[in-house]
Amino acid sequence: MACGPSFRFRKLVEAKVKALARSSPRLNAAWWNVQYRLGLWDYLDGGTPTGREIAEIVGEYAPEASILDLGCGTTINLPLIPGTYRHYHGVDISAKAIEQARMIGRPHATYETADILTYAPQEAYDAILLREVIYYLPTAKVSGFLERLSGFLAPGGVILIQVWAGETNPDLIAAIEGSTPPGMLAKTLELDSPGHPMLYFLIKSDVIG
Ligand SMILES: C[S@@+](CC[C@H](N)C(=O)[O-])C[C@H]1O[C@@H](n2cnc3c(N)ncnc32)[C@H](O)[C@@H]1O
Repeated sequence: MACGPSFRFRKLVEAKVKALARSSPRLNAAWWNVQYRLGLWDYLDGGTPTGREIAEIVGEYAPEASILDLGCGTTINLPLIPGTYRHYHGVDISAKAIEQARMIGRPHATYETADILTYAPQEAYDAILLREVIYYLPTAKVSGFLERLSGFLAPGGVILIQVWAGETNPDLIAAIEGSTPPGMLAKTLELDSPGHPMLYFLIKSDVIG
């Protein structure tokens, strides 16, 4: 197989670079800025918006919500309809992603560059989104992270976690499911990568703690 060894090599290198970046917030920010500058995530912003499902779940469980989107990226793929949410606050470690997010001119929205592992929101939110970001945090810290986040939910609020190809990362799924029981699987969707469904976990404020 011509592409076998080089694919494995790429994966190995990628894993090592990611682990190195995660070891320091400054390195992590630089690593993500480089990725955004190179346009490596542009594909997330074209075609069918990958954030469509989570926008619908927010509408269902937290209508007219104040929304905190952690690891928000450029946010171009999150089709929130003005009038269906009160306020949106996007946070990302990449200043480049936040710069692109601001350029959209989304109504009732603010943005901030920060490391979500240590980020402390200034207010409580009805919906806290973690869209395809949780696997970039050290798995050992996921449990404590979710518990801490639950302290920033308004009464009746929800944490929504979007995970692609969860079957490839059972430790992460166990950390999500086990850390704040009874978190529930809100949806499983086969999107455009057959065999690698997108999982949507819902954690409600009234069942935490
Ligand atoms: C795969 S992208 C997903 C972006 C967006 N949530 C989406 O679904 O399109 C992962 C995002 O997480 C951000 N990120 C990774 N580690 C982070 C951290 N520790 N704090 C804040 N953002 C982080 C990256 O900068 C990147 O924008």
